[in-house]
Formats: sequence, structure tokens, C-alpha cells
Amino acid sequence: MSATASMERPASTGQEGRAALSAMAFVSDSTALARISADLFSLTLGKANIRDGAIDAALAIAEWPRDLDLLIVDLAGSADPIADAAALKTAVPGGCIVIAVGRINDVALYRDLTAVGFNDYLALPFAEGAMARAVDRAFELRERTGGPAPSVQSSIKDALPRTLAVLGARGGVGATTAAVAIAAMLGARLKEEVLLIDFDLHYGSLMLALDLEAIDALREALDQPDRIDALFIQQVAQKKSDYLYAMGAEEAPTSGFQARPHAAGDFLRSVHRRFRWIVADVPRGDPILQRQVIEASTDILLLTDLSLPGVRDAMRLQQLVHDVAPGAKLYIATGGAIEARRSAVKVADVERTLKHKVDCQIPADTVAALSAVNVGKPLPEAAPSSGIVKALRPLVAALDTPGGDGGSSAAPKAMSLFGNLGRFGRNLKRK
Ligand SMILES: Nc1ncnc2c1ncn2[C@@H]1O[C@H](COP(=O)(O)OP(=O)(O)OP(=O)(O)O)[C@@H](O)[C@H]1O
Ligand SMILES: [Mg+2]
Repeated sequence: MSATASMERPASTGQEGRAALSAMAFVSDSTALARISADLFSLTLGKANIRDGAIDAALAIAEWPRDLDLLIVDLAGSADPIADAAALKTAVPGGCIVIAVGRINDVALYRDLTAVGFNDYLALPFAEGAMARAVDRAFELRERTGGPAPSVQSSIKDALPRTLAVLGARGGVGATTAAVAIAAMLGARLKEEVLLIDFDLHYGSLMLALDLEAIDALREALDQPDRIDALFIQQVAQKKSDYLYAMGAEEAPTSGFQARPHAAGDFLRSVHRRFRWIVADVPRGDPILQRQVIEASTDILLLTDLSLPGVRDAMRLQQLVHDVAPGAKLYIATGGAIEARRSAVKVADVERTLKHKVDCQIPADTVAALSAVNVGKPLPEAAPSSGIVKALRPLVAALDTPGGDGGSSAAPKAMSLFGNLGRFGRNLKRK
């Protein structure tokens, strides 16, 4: 049966000549449900399978009709819509057009959904006929571009949320400076908004470095991550530039805070709904939060200075990364105030001890570091020609690859590491 004759919408272009569509919808909003039913009626000759439900119900379908042309799905109730969308897209037949509806009106969400292979996203409430137009548009686009989006699998990988945890092996090695610079460079490279989070709720210096206000709500959000919504993120994440946002707190020194189990992971998952890329400045003084952030990270940068205590602590943190985030990609960097040529510990010593190449050697550049602090801007903006920026560039390029190729955090067994350090330390003292 030809759909052309039965379609009453004169604006329809993409559907001409196509048989009646096989369509399903899972929608929990009653107004939207009525509008979608009306729009799908003519497209499907009244045969659309429309259910009161959302993406959860769609994900529960074990076997999809092989000839399914169109799926409309409500994102309501999903804690992680992008991950759910990616899972759903892989489950439905390859040629099926998938359109999401939801309450969040956010271009970042739209972009993430299309990156995992969804064809469109309509924010609720939408007008009568809007879904019919969206369906037309999707089919028309597919006809023009010839079939479903190429390499959905690689799009899914590209769109996966990424958290880079930046860990300083010792105090003052330049972890915060590096975290800010990397986030700024990554945002500019990807043309995508990147969020910096300072997890040192008491003594973090990230907001100060960017001349932004610390916000008390960060602690509350860590306590109750299920209460984080788009509005909260909009209020707490402060915009520094087109592609750089930051959040951090300034808890009173007397306020005790103990993160409940999985707090950081839950929090990061919620915030990833708005920001695909998060760069986390991880505190050393809070082992619980430190462990949780490492656990939830896809990428980890461990920064050490060229000192014996620095290398010892880098080894201990490397072991922690290996234990709690074995799938994360680990990068090692050297930095700090001691210049490489003047230090007793050499980069080769770090590599030998950690059994890991040094991915990035951040030079000491006090003038550039100071000027960044003085103007309250990321170093790449305040001092773009600094050697620090140059050294970070390959690292930023390495981060701009699809996630999931991790596994390089593998550390040799703790015993042999400590054995190495003992020998290494003794040799150093004899020098
Ligand atoms: N590569 C560098 N060369 C010279 N000075 C630097 C460099 N990186 C950072 N600094 C300066 O060193 C100081 C400490 O830097 P930063 O706050 O980034 O270190 P950190 O490791 O985060 O310290 P903390 O342990 O307090 O969190 C700052 O004054 C910063 O401007
Ligand atoms: Mg710091």
C-alpha cells in the first residue's frame, strides 16, 4: 500500500512513494503521547504501536521487529540518557530512525544524542505537527545522505562521557595549573564545552586561579547527586569562556565532609548529562574522594616533580590507579619547580621506576604561571607561547581520541615497584 495517497500533510516531502511506516513509540508525557499518536496515524495508516512508557521500557524489549522504520522514545526517568540512548540504538534494527523526546532543552543533549546515532530530539512541550515534521526531516535527510549514519559504532565511542582526573603526586607540583590549561586547550580543540571540577572542597585553588566564585552547593550535590538537574548545573557551573566552565567550593576548614560511598561517581554521572568532557582536579588530602574520583575516571594524569618523595608518591598513586581504575588510560607527566637539568632525579629515572613512559614534561615557567594567576585566566590564554602550553599540546591531542582504549594503567606488582624505589633511592643518595 502506498503511503502517498493516505498522507494528508501537504508539507510532507520525505515520505512520498514510501509504504506505510512500521513505527513504535514509548512516551510517558500524556500531551506528547496524544500529539505523537495523531502525527503517526497517517504515517502508519493507524498501525503505530504506541505505548505509555519511556526509554526503560524500550530497553526492556528483547526482540525488535526487523522491519521497524521509526522509533520515538521518551528519555524520562533515565539517569544516564546518553548511555541508554547508545544502548538502545545498538539494539534496534540498523535502518530504524530514532527520535527522542524529553524535558531537557539543551543543545548539548541533542548533539550527544545525534552522536550516538539518534536522528533527532524534540524538547517537550512541542506543538502539534512537530513530530510529523521531525519524522519527515529525518527520512529526507537519510535519503539524501544515503542510509543510516556511517559508523554508528565509532560515533558511540566518540560520544562516550570522559573524565580526566588530574593528580599531583606532591603538593604544588602544578596539578591545578595543568588541569586548567588542559581543559581550556581541550575545549578549544574540540569546540566543545568542557567542565573543570575542583574536588578539593576545603582548600581547592581552581576557582581562585580562574577568578570565579566558589559555590557551597557543590558539597550538597555530592551529598545528594540524585537531586542534580539541568537547572542546578546551569547555576553551579560557572562560565569562564565559550568552551570552559568550572565548579568548586570553599568549605570552612572546620566543616567535616565525608563523601558517602560512590558519591563522586554518581555526581559525575549526573553532570555528564550536560558536559561530555570533565576535567577533575583531585585532592590529595581526602583519600575517600580521591579514590572515588579515580574510580569514576576514564583518563588519569599523574603529575610528579623530579624529587625522590615525588617519585615515591607517584608510584603509590600509580598502584592506586591500577587497583581502582584498571580500565582507565594513565598518563604520566613531570613538572614542579625543580628544573629537569638541575634535579638529581631524571626523567629516565621516573620512567624506569614507574615502568611507564613520561608522556609530558612540563617545564618550569614562573613568568607564564604568574601571569596566568594575575589575570585569572588559563595559561594557554594568558601566555600562549609558554613552554608549558607547548608541552601539554601532544597530551591534549592524545586525549582527543575516542575513549575506551584504556588499560594502559597496568602497573607492575607493588612489591617490585617498592623494591625498585629502594634501589633507586639508595643509588641517588650515593650520587
Ligand atoms: N610549570 C610551572 N612553572 C612555574 N610555576 C608553576 C608551574 N606550574 C605551576 N606553577 C606555580 O606553582 C604554584 C602551584 O601550582 P598549582 O596550584 O598548579 O599546583 P598544585 O599541584 O595544584 O598545588 P596544590 O598541591 O596546592 O593543589 C602556583 O603558584 C603556580 O602558579
Ligand atoms: Mg591544586
